Amino acid sequence: MMTAGTGLLAEGPTVVPEQIWWYVARSGGIVALLLAGLSVVWGLLLSTRVTGGRPTPKWLTSLHRHLGTLTVTFTSVHVAALVADDYVDFGWSDVLVPLASDWKPVPVAFGVIAFHLLIAVQISSLLMKRLPRRYWKLIHLSSFGLLWAGLVHGATAGSDATNPLYTVAMAVLVCATLFLTLFRVLAGRRRRRPDVASSIRDRAVTRAADRVNTVVS
Ligand code: HEM
Repeated sequence: MMTAGTGLLAEGPTVVPEQIWWYVARSGGIVALLLAGLSVVWGLLLSTRVTGGRPTPKWLTSLHRHLGTLTVTFTSVHVAALVADDYVDFGWSDVLVPLASDWKPVPVAFGVIAFHLLIAVQISSLLMKRLPRRYWKLIHLSSFGLLWAGLVHGATAGSDATNPLYTVAMAVLVCATLFLTLFRVLAGRRRRRPDVASSIRDRAVTRAADRVNTVVS
């Protein structure tokens, strides 16, 4: 349930804005989205090997992991500050259930979905060694969904979406992600092609060997 709040409070010598949690929520959201984008970019740098081993994959993996953890931390700050704030009154169900919020329900739902995906990706990464690789990879790939949902959410729910700095930062993130994703897909295809060729060759060799065996016997 939500109610509209009042303006800024400037009482006494220390000026504490009444909407402090609202500002914490907004800045937390922006930092979380930037971190989520950087984490995806770092993952793509790792999988494409586009940096040619410098910095080392170990360093890239470690930073990728830290960026993921920081994304969860700042998203939690974003969500907790929204609940703490009474400028717009969010309850826990508003922030955890898609479309439960009365305030901009669809834009907020994109944020809730991004949050759920983020938690799934983070938990599956912690359980990586115990999960079958196929399932882990499938869940991990949903980070693309989480980033796009976060971008749509930020652009449609946020008050800073028209700020030039915000627009430029997000545009750079989107371009880097699209470029590296395309590179990854094309490089993946090129890598797979020799496998296909060698399996065709293997089959031809087996068939030829069978024919020789038949003639000999
Ligand atoms: C439970 C999930 C979430 C809820 C309920 C939620 C809610 C909100 C709300 C109400 C706003 C509007 C604030 C404003 O007027 O500026 C907002 C903005 C924003 N959120 Fe979320 N959010 C959630 C998850 C996320 C996630 C996972 C990310 C990024 C990874 C994110 C990134 C942002 C960004 C970048 C903004 C724009 C901030 C601004 O323009 O000042 N949010 N969110």
